[in-house]
Amino acid sequence: MIKQEKILITGANGQLGSVLAKRLQEKHGVNNVVATDIVADEDFVGNFEILDVLDFERLKSIVIQNEITQIYHLAAILSASGEKHPKRTWDINTKTFFNVLDVSVIQNVNKLFFPSSIAVYGANAPKINTPQSYELTPTTVYGISKVAGENWAKYYFDNYDLDIRSVRYPGVIGHQTLPGGGTTDYAVDIFYKAINETNFECFLSKNTTLPMIYMDDAIRATIELMDAPKKSISIRTSYNIAGMSFSPEELTYAIQKIYPNFKTLYKPDFRQKIASCWPSSIDDSVAKKDWNWNPLFGIDEMTKIMIEELKLKQQTKLQKT
Ligand SMILES: NC(=O)c1ccc[n+]([C@@H]2O[C@H](COP(=O)([O-])OP(=O)(O)OC[C@H]3O[C@@H](n4cnc5c(N)ncnc54)[C@H](O)[C@@H]3O)[C@@H](O)[C@H]2O)c1
Repeated sequence: MIKQEKILITGANGQLGSVLAKRLQEKHGVNNVVATDIVADEDFVGNFEILDVLDFERLKSIVIQNEITQIYHLAAILSASGEKHPKRTWDINTKTFFNVLDVSVIQNVNKLFFPSSIAVYGANAPKINTPQSYELTPTTVYGISKVAGENWAKYYFDNYDLDIRSVRYPGVIGHQTLPGGGTTDYAVDIFYKAINETNFECFLSKNTTLPMIYMDDAIRATIELMDAPKKSISIRTSYNIAGMSFSPEELTYAIQKIYPNFKTLYKPDFRQKIASCWPSSIDDSVAKKDWNWNPLFGIDEMTKIMIEELKLKQQTKLQKT
């Protein structure tokens, strides 16, 4: 008989965590998923625990009490927010990860998911079709913490046989929650302005092309990687995955197909410097070969869905008030 998996998610209130939690509840059953975050979520349906992942003893007791077999460790400080307090970001991103790595080894957790990012690359990496394996010289403390995390992931796999799996997410675009302080946040914020037919002020320059991924693809990649047979996983640092690539100007054109009068004004800020060091597009051929990764959403499909879903959300909110 196949043993029922018991899932723990850290950072479950975040942009990715809130969607992943629902998807994992559908897959494993509501009672078999424990969502946790440092802040409470009054609206969460299912098992929710307050957890600061810096608190190892609390993490351990939640893992023991719920007989956790898989952990999705999403809690982190993101690229743009991270630059405001570099050392604090390093502490939070690395200490929380060590706590999750150690509890996984001590409590025999079967599988662990750790999200890395395109932020691991530095300005020296080829911008187009950035290869899976290249010298990683990130410019942000966030990127530095993800590179360290990737290497520690491989170390725990090699030395403790911990089955830890990881993808380098591009900028994630979804309608469910607002993003949490990353350099690609503009690509979500822009839709909130579009549906209200007001102009958008973009913090990146119009031709800054970055790799992006629609939420459904990002969540599916996560689940497919975790479900892949162990023997097919050749990368134990982190896999490149690609969805689509576009600049703020190209996203504006896509929105103008629906709202012809929509305009973006460009006012690059400190985030431009971060974005300028990142890849424009990503080579994800190793993920495609190893576990059949294949993105389904391009810029036009994503734009259409984002606008439809956000309009629906706005109408529902208005009806309630
Ligand atoms: N969203 C993206 O575009 C993107 C891209 C690349 C990688 N990632 C990675 O995916 C993961 C999830 O990203 P996200 O966009 O959902 O982030 P987010 O900022 O929206 O959510 C992170 C969550 O972690 C929680 N958190 C912060 N510190 C904590 C702590 N000490 N203990 C417990 N919880 C804590 C926050 O309250 C928040 O709910 C992160 O590791 C991020 O680096 C995200």
